Amino acid sequence: MLAYVTVGSTGFDQLIGVISTPAFLRALSSRGFRRLVVQYGSSSKSFNPPSRVPETLGLSIEHFDYTRWPQQYVDNADLIISHAGTGCILEALHAGKPTIVVPNHDLMDAHQAEIAEELAHGGRDPEWKKEFVRNLNIENSPATENFPPIALSTVDLNGRPSVRMVSPRGFLGDGFLKTSATDQQNTWTSDIMTLCTHAQSNKVQELLSTPDTQLVCWLPRAQAQIRCSGRAHLLFHPENPLYSTLTLDLEHRVWPSRQDNREDVAGDDIPPVVVDPEFVREQAFLHHSPGIQAWYSWPAPGRARALDDSLYPKDLERIKDSLVRDRCKETARRNYALVFIDIDHVDIVNLGQSTRRIYTRRSDNSWTTTNVNP
Ligand SMILES: Cc1cc2nc3c(=O)[nH]c(=O)nc-3n(C[C@H](O)[C@H](O)[C@H](O)COP(=O)(O)O)c2cc1C
Repeated sequence: MLAYVTVGSTGFDQLIGVISTPAFLRALSSRGFRRLVVQYGSSSKSFNPPSRVPETLGLSIEHFDYTRWPQQYVDNADLIISHAGTGCILEALHAGKPTIVVPNHDLMDAHQAEIAEELAHGGRDPEWKKEFVRNLNIENSPATENFPPIALSTVDLNGRPSVRMVSPRGFLGDGFLKTSATDQQNTWTSDIMTLCTHAQSNKVQELLSTPDTQLVCWLPRAQAQIRCSGRAHLLFHPENPLYSTLTLDLEHRVWPSRQDNREDVAGDDIPPVVVDPEFVREQAFLHHSPGIQAWYSWPAPGRARALDDSLYPKDLERIKDSLVRDRCKETARRNYALVFIDIDHVDIVNLGQSTRRIYTRRSDNSWTTTNVNP
């Protein structure tokens, strides 16, 4: 096994000092590592491995100040230890390698500590969600606010494929999709992608009949195609007879979000998770503009358009008759359904980087990552 230590274009005396101590070399060897490659930049004086590494450690050590071909070490590494430079971190993440990031507090700005902290905060998210969110940020469509449209596939009632665009509301727990009324500061996050739709739309019938689905979007700035497969779970208004069909155990599928990873609220101070599906549904509905809320008061999607224009109000707040207004608002709330996608397989093709990674969920909810040919 290969451990690759890299400090990029500067030096990092403390890190290079530590990784050449006998204690560190013993720790590596005892975990099965047989090769250590060290790129120490300007910190060559701090690199002082024992002049003869005892044969019992079985480690071969290579070292250099810089290399023009770092990729070969990144590709072959089983562990990457780096300073908290963005380039090093991104290389390791893109290669899907386990990484230990050590911020260099001696640098003039606190940049490295900030980057390392940011990385640690997203730490519980599976790698595919981090890669997805990174690409959304490149796209300027943050997952918590403004998810780009994504195509949702279903099998229609005749067994034929059916696909249409939908606008994800984000991941359960993120942004306005707070898990309950007590979750005021986004205490929780998840990888449950949340969509919304009209309860009487075809896709609802189709997903009830065949819950397996696949979503795909293209992010032109990030040059990424992101394809997520999983099972759809539908959440209706509590008075809809299908309300009780939501079987997804949401409470066991969320984890503390970034705020709660802070040390001051760690451990016993983390409140027990409560997921109130009706609260989530209501918040998602209220977050739409009045114009979009109005669509949900209209007759079922796909039916022939009626001649009576009053059936299609453009803004519920502007309906003059208060009785009609209240009835339309109530209808809209009742027709508003959420679709939770429990993702178990993700395929991200990045054309700019010529990479393609497949993420697959294991039965214990951990994930495997495989680099494949694009
Ligand atoms: C950019 C875009 C975003 C859309 N977002 C949604 C959505 O979030 N939910 C939805 O039900 N329909 C959405 N639609 C409409 C659907 O694509 C589709 O036409 C409609 O829902 C028909 O539903 P069906 O496939 O169930 O017959 C969107 C359409 C476009 C073009």
